[in-house]
Amino acid sequence: MTDTATFPLTFTTTPSATARAAAEREEILADPGFGKYFTDHMATISWSIEEGWHDARVVPYGPLRLDPAAAVLHYAQEIFEGLKVYRHADGSIWAFRPEANARRMQRSAERLALPQLPESAFVEAVKRLVEADSEWVPSAPETSLYVRPFMIASEAFLGVRSAHGVDFHVIASPAGAYFPGGVRPVSIWLSQDYTRAGRGGMGAAKTGGNYAASLLPQAEAYEQGCQQVVFLDAEERRYVEELGGMNVFFVYADGRVVTPALSGTILEGITRESVIQLAKERGHAIEERRVSIDEWREGVSSGDITEVFACGTAAVITPIGLLKARDFQAGSLDAPAGALTMSLREELTGIQYGRREDHHDWMLRLA
Ligand code: PLP
Ligand code: COI
Repeated sequence: MTDTATFPLTFTTTPSATARAAAEREEILADPGFGKYFTDHMATISWSIEEGWHDARVVPYGPLRLDPAAAVLHYAQEIFEGLKVYRHADGSIWAFRPEANARRMQRSAERLALPQLPESAFVEAVKRLVEADSEWVPSAPETSLYVRPFMIASEAFLGVRSAHGVDFHVIASPAGAYFPGGVRPVSIWLSQDYTRAGRGGMGAAKTGGNYAASLLPQAEAYEQGCQQVVFLDAEERRYVEELGGMNVFFVYADGRVVTPALSGTILEGITRESVIQLAKERGHAIEERRVSIDEWREGVSSGDITEVFACGTAAVITPIGLLKARDFQAGSLDAPAGALTMSLREELTGIQYGRREDHHDWMLRLA
């Protein structure tokens, strides 16, 4: 694709005339929940087949103007990212591994036939938005600003081909715990009727369609009293892939840490990669391989598997207490969260909140 854009892009900023009053903002930041409130601004970069990336801007947060024939509304040509921004004790503001999100978005773009946004432009858009809305980065324990970059096919054209007009946007939302109730073991529903992604499909891309596919099984999970759904591979319906919005890890009694291998059908989590790194540094043997549902079930029952946890940007590291399926259960919600689970969580959040040294250079200062 032609791209005549010159980088770095120059951003213009239009301050919001309807920004929330400080008192209202503070009230929201005291108990933000997850994904319910949005900051005063958004960042946008447009792309066209003629001009490439252009018109980088920070503008007041508000509804998009989208033609009803915009391709994204019909053919779901869309990708997104999720990353968190933290306020440290000295007031400074930092993002966790934003370049990794930028690179993953490039990989998603390739799969969805969308244009690739340069890593530097992605990071710059996040930085500009956070600068404009820096007062929205909360400071209470366990809170952060969840940043949601996304890219949509905005061209009005109903022929099925990759769009010639695309917009990249970044919005942000103050966030507390993803699972209400804080860090407590959660229960997971095993989807036996539905799968999330097949070989050659879009499972490794962060695209809306994968989440649309997860909503019905996720609703089933809620009906069963579970907080998340876990999917098996589409071919044999035997191997554990991932949850609706998180990766999964198993800790063995002998210290091994096991997680499903990246097979092209699961999302390559940035938290997953960070957890692998931290566990390796502690001397744990890491196994990225296939894990059958029977191994999970039997391992928990026999005591071979001592801890199971989920991880992702929104969920951080969350202990899994109970696996529930149509005809069996494994584990218990009464058991305390695993020691390694909680200690990895403490280490990771320690780095993110600036309480621990960032040996890996994972944090990028934004303000
Ligand atoms: N798997 C899925 C399906 C997800 O939606 C997410 C969340 O982004 C993850 C895994 C974890 O990825 P990350 O750690 O990069 O947030
Ligand atoms: C994230 O963790 O960033 C996600 O996109 C997952 C979703 C459950 C919010």
